[in-house]
Parts: sequence; C-alpha cells; structure tokens
Amino acid sequence: MSADGLDTEILSADIAGVAGAAELLRAGALVSFPTETVYGLGADATNDHAVARIFDAKGRPHFNPLIVHVPSLEAVSEIAVLSGPALDLAQAFWPGPLTLVLPLKPGGPLSALVSAGLPTVAVRVPAHPLAQKLLEAAGIPVAAPSANPSGRISPSTAQHVLDGLSGRIAAVLDGGPCEVGLESTIVGFDPAPVLLRPGGLPVEALEAALGGAIAVRQASAGITAPGQLSSHYAPNAQMRLNADEARPGERLLGFGHVEADLNLSPSGDLVEAAANLFRYLHQLDIEGDAPIAVSPIPDHGMGRAINDRLRRAAAPRN
Ligand code: TXA
Ligand code: MG
Repeated sequence: MSADGLDTEILSADIAGVAGAAELLRAGALVSFPTETVYGLGADATNDHAVARIFDAKGRPHFNPLIVHVPSLEAVSEIAVLSGPALDLAQAFWPGPLTLVLPLKPGGPLSALVSAGLPTVAVRVPAHPLAQKLLEAAGIPVAAPSANPSGRISPSTAQHVLDGLSGRIAAVLDGGPCEVGLESTIVGFDPAPVLLRPGGLPVEALEAALGGAIAVRQASAGITAPGQLSSHYAPNAQMRLNADEARPGERLLGFGHVEADLNLSPSGDLVEAAANLFRYLHQLDIEGDAPIAVSPIPDHGMGRAINDRLRRAAAPRN
C-alpha cells in the first residue's frame, strides 16, 4: 500500500490483462491505458464518482472537459451527434489521433462532469490495438485525460504513468511506448470545422480531407474565457457562496452536516461533492430561479476545483 492507499497493479498486454482492466473500469476504478498518442487515465464516463476520481488523482485545481474514448463510430452515436463535416472527418481519420467536439446526444448516458456542464463532448476512437480491445471489452465509454499529475508532461510509457500516479490509480495496462507521443488533434465545429488543438494528426491531412483551410482557435480561449464559461456553466438563479445557512427565500446547496435542499456530500467527502456538482447545479436550474446559497467548501484537494467552478457560477453576468 502506498500513502495514497492504492497498490497500483501493472497489467500485461494480453487477454487476462485486458479483461482485468475492463472489469476495473466497469467497477468505477481508474485504469491507465495506452493509446497511439499518450497514455490515458481512464474512468467510466457514465459514472459521476469514477469521473470525479480522475480530477482527484490528477490533482487538477479546476474541472476541464475530458475526452471520451469509444471503440467505433457506432459507439459514438450512443453518446453524441455525428453529422456533416464531423462525420466526414470521422470516416476519414477514425480510428486515429483525432478528437472531435460534438453535440451531446440528448438524454445520453454521460456524466455531466465529463463535459464540465458544456452541451458538447470531445470524442475519440483511438487506433492503438490494446485501447481498441480494452474499449470493446469494457463496453462503456471511457473518459480519459492524459495520465499525468496536473501540470506535468504527458506520459508515453507505463513507467511514466507510474512515476506520476502510482498509488493514486487502480492499474496501468502496459502496452509499451506510445507511437505518436503527442496528444490528439482536436477539432470543433462552429459549425464550420475549427482547429482547437494541434496534435498527432497533421493539420495538412485535415485540410486535404476538408478540401480547404481550417480556422484555428486556441482550445483554452474557447473553454476558459469567463464569458463563455458563464454562458454555459451558470444557473439562472443568483448564487451566494460560503453561506452558513439559507436566508428566507433562498435554496441551500449544502455540504457536510447541514439541512439543505440538495447536499453535495452530507458526510463532507470532496470527491462525492465533485461527482454531484454539475448534476445538482443543473437540477437547481430546472427547479426554479429562487436564489441559491452554497455552504462553505474546504479549499483543499478537490475542494479547490469545486470552489473554482462555484466562483465562476456566482460571478456577475453580463
Ligand atoms: O491524445 C489525447 O487526446 C489524450 C489521450 C489520452 O486520448 N487525451 C488528452 O486529454 O489529451 P486531455 O484531458 O489532456 O485534453 C482534453 C482537452 C481539453 O483540455 C480541452 O482542450 C478539449 O480537450 N476539450 C474537451 N472537451 C471539450 C469540449 N466540449 N469543447 C472544447 N474542447 C474540449
Ligand atoms: Mg493533458
């Protein structure tokens, strides 16, 4: 046992290793696996708690949307809407080092935490044979950022993964070094295709398939700009943070041992609170526009990412 409480298992690239990794993923555990770009830190993308554990293991101070991995185009249609130029690119380059940002399938199965509350989801069909086998065996969409602690470089061997995350994840499936060693190219749709992150698939290949130049926008500009965030992320109701109790007319989004309309984690567990956060904000939004008071959330571990998200939601709107 390590200080973080898990004995990270090293699974070999054979039938038993793949079956073991698939079972762990289905059970909600974190498993790192190779893709042709870099090693991913995988979790069941339909399970709020499993996805919350990704952010906890990486020590990320904020929630950013994750890439969801599936084995085939058919599997994509269960989670997202694939049409127009996105379908053309998918047919040209999947499986491969390309990620497409697509509209979420209405009523689909993904955890709201995967897309950090956005109406879109980044999807990838990786070409690595071991990733393919694992995704087929798991039978669930797998959310996976690169398998490194926040702020460190992306891992291209199982040993890199262990160097950064040993003791924080259940297992790593060892498929040897990754071929590309650089993250996937990300394309969004405006609705015209937009390059959000250059990566393993050369821009020239994209442009050849599209029959023309592709517009470029930094992924960070699209996601972390506060204006964009508030338009997608904030409930309509006013929010008041660090509230010890609700004032008359307010609803309480609680944390810990308080009487609340909704409680992120009655036991004060920050990973549980992260798992519930986006779903509860959405639910409060649907239920009405009475102002929302939010209990204080400890500002350590996952609490930092939760507070970052709450501050954005509570910021003045324009
Ligand atoms: O090669 C890769 O892409 C690796 C392997 C494991 O697949 N994964 C990876 O994931 O690099 P990550 O979490 O490090 O990068 C995900 C990035 C986000 O930071 C964001 O830029 C973009 O994908 N992204 C995800 N969802 C998005 C969305 N709904 N809209 C726009 N961009 C999104
Ligand atoms: Mg990364």
